[in-house]
Amino acid sequence: PRPILLTRHGESRDNVRGRIGGDTVLSDAGELYAKKLANFVEKRLKSERAASIWTSTLQRTIITASPIVGFPKIQWRALDEINAGVCDGMTYEEIKKNMPEEYESRKKDKLRYRYPRGESYLDVIQRLEPVIIELERQRAPVVVISHQAVLRALYSYFADRPLKEIPHIEVPLHTIIEIQMGVTGVQEKRYKLMD
Ligand code: G3H
Repeated sequence: PRPILLTRHGESRDNVRGRIGGDTVLSDAGELYAKKLANFVEKRLKSERAASIWTSTLQRTIITASPIVGFPKIQWRALDEINAGVCDGMTYEEIKKNMPEEYESRKKDKLRYRYPRGESYLDVIQRLEPVIIELERQRAPVVVISHQAVLRALYSYFADRPLKEIPHIEVPLHTIIEIQMGVTGVQEKRYKLMD
């Protein structure tokens, strides 16, 4: 059976500063991850000629994919991070301080909460539908390089986790989650390439 490899982009400059959203480049650690990921993918998918690399349209995923050679790369807007609307570029501390009602309503119902002029987790889950259809249709391995909120939703779909858990699932940086869909169900392996 063909694997699906899920990973977040390497650590970004905004990750280091604790800012959500944005479109920054990678930190030094993130750049190192991109190289390690390329090594891993080239070994793991050596004889898989039809494999492909899917990224979002944001720099941090495209840069993370850039050291990988030999496979076609496809950018999906549907793989972009949850749109934080008016909170884009803020830290959680800033949101709590400047928009306490927003902070509280998100805390109460993170799945349904929609950022003003942005998205909710439910919105993200909905826009992922075409990606999931295409992933299911693929016969060859796919490496998906995306973002935390999006990967929570994708992972939950394949791992069959309940909707209400989705916004709280841990998808750590610098870790590959390998999903294998076989006749006996879904198998999962994790590879932590660095801290
Ligand atoms: O920038 C957005 C984060 O990756 C999503 O995290 O939904 O836990 O705030 P959160």
